[in-house]
Amino acid sequence: MDSPDNSRFIKACLNQPVDRTPVWFMRQAGRSLPEYRLARGTLSILETVKNPELAAELTLQPVKRYDVDAAVLFSDIMVPLKAIGLELDILPNVGPVIEKPFAKVSDLDRIRKYEPEEDAPYVQETIALLKKDCRVPIIGFAGAPFTIASYLVEGKPSRNFIKTKTLMHTLPEFWSPLMDKLSDLIIASLSAQITAGVHAIQLFDSWAGSLSRYDYQEYVWPFSKKIFDALTKNFGTSLPKIHFGVGTSAILDLMASTGPDVLSVDWRIPLDKVSPLLSENQAIQGNLDPAICLTSFDTVAREAGRILRDAKRRSAPHEKSVSPSFHRGHIFNLGHGVLPETDPDTLTRLVDFVRNYDSTSDDVQP
Ligand code: CP3
Repeated sequence: MDSPDNSRFIKACLNQPVDRTPVWFMRQAGRSLPEYRLARGTLSILETVKNPELAAELTLQPVKRYDVDAAVLFSDIMVPLKAIGLELDILPNVGPVIEKPFAKVSDLDRIRKYEPEEDAPYVQETIALLKKDCRVPIIGFAGAPFTIASYLVEGKPSRNFIKTKTLMHTLPEFWSPLMDKLSDLIIASLSAQITAGVHAIQLFDSWAGSLSRYDYQEYVWPFSKKIFDALTKNFGTSLPKIHFGVGTSAILDLMASTGPDVLSVDWRIPLDKVSPLLSENQAIQGNLDPAICLTSFDTVAREAGRILRDAKRRSAPHEKSVSPSFHRGHIFNLGHGVLPETDPDTLTRLVDFVRNYDSTSDDVQP
């Protein structure tokens, strides 16, 4: 058994050849698992995160059940904000809600410096526990500045992000310092997770796809770039960094140029259309539509096979000679999180399908 540092997940993230395509699922822990509902009981998600034994157990549940190639830390993108004292909650079936949404320059004072060791020691303790028991790499994560800012400004999940876009365009003395302060908080959060021992990190810019290319470039890109630059400077290039968003087909090249090793894409774009937007060494993660997991398994297998073929088509042209069992630069995942209604057995079968997928039966098209 490979060590987590030398695992196929880490190698695939760094675009090194692997024996088979690694697979994990965003939101693999959580409500679709009966053992999760049992273990969490009536505790809220934010209370659960503060309990390292429980958070470690919930992180490991999907690894045990599905035998996936990576574990994702049980936490939430809002945890550092809660830890610095912002009054917020995560409501079941709703998401993050903020008591007093941000609207003016003086609200910026409410974001103080985040000191992970003092403010949220339980996150690092959970990672320490996992380091003892987890045989696959552990993925740490944070929300990206835009996605976090959208919750702080809208006060709740939003469809159109009207308040956020209004402030972004009309109040630069609010928007830039807000994004800058959030970038520093996110760098502190990810750095503490890396120091505690996670093997890779993912930056979730879940709602970046709501922006025009212009707005992304002008108002968001510099801050996400600042985060990846800081992590590369402080931790080198061997710890993989993944950048994720939904509906980002129009901005993937911009997201790629912020400096991640892996771009995580949703189902709207075929993987072979993603590669021309990336640099040659960047890997791709994705991209099964989570809704497909609620159809028949025949459909799941057909769509997963198509994704694996698209990924192979993408990776092959860089090689001088294409080995028949060529695997490189693809991490199989969903295009967004597991839906709560998903039958866990479908994911077990999907992991098996990816694992046993016979790439030798495909012709690689130029
Ligand atoms: O397996 C895992 O991935 C668990 C770790 C995890 C959680 N949140 C726990 C959680 C991760 C990686 C997240 C990230 C997260 N949180 C994101 C980015 C990923 C994405 O889905 O786009 C976002 C936008 C959030 C904010 C948030 N927290 C939302 C939108 C919700 C859903 C609200 C709901 O109930 O539908 C949450 C709650 C949340 N975070 C749950 C879990 C397991 C569900 C709460 C529960 O179990 O009651």
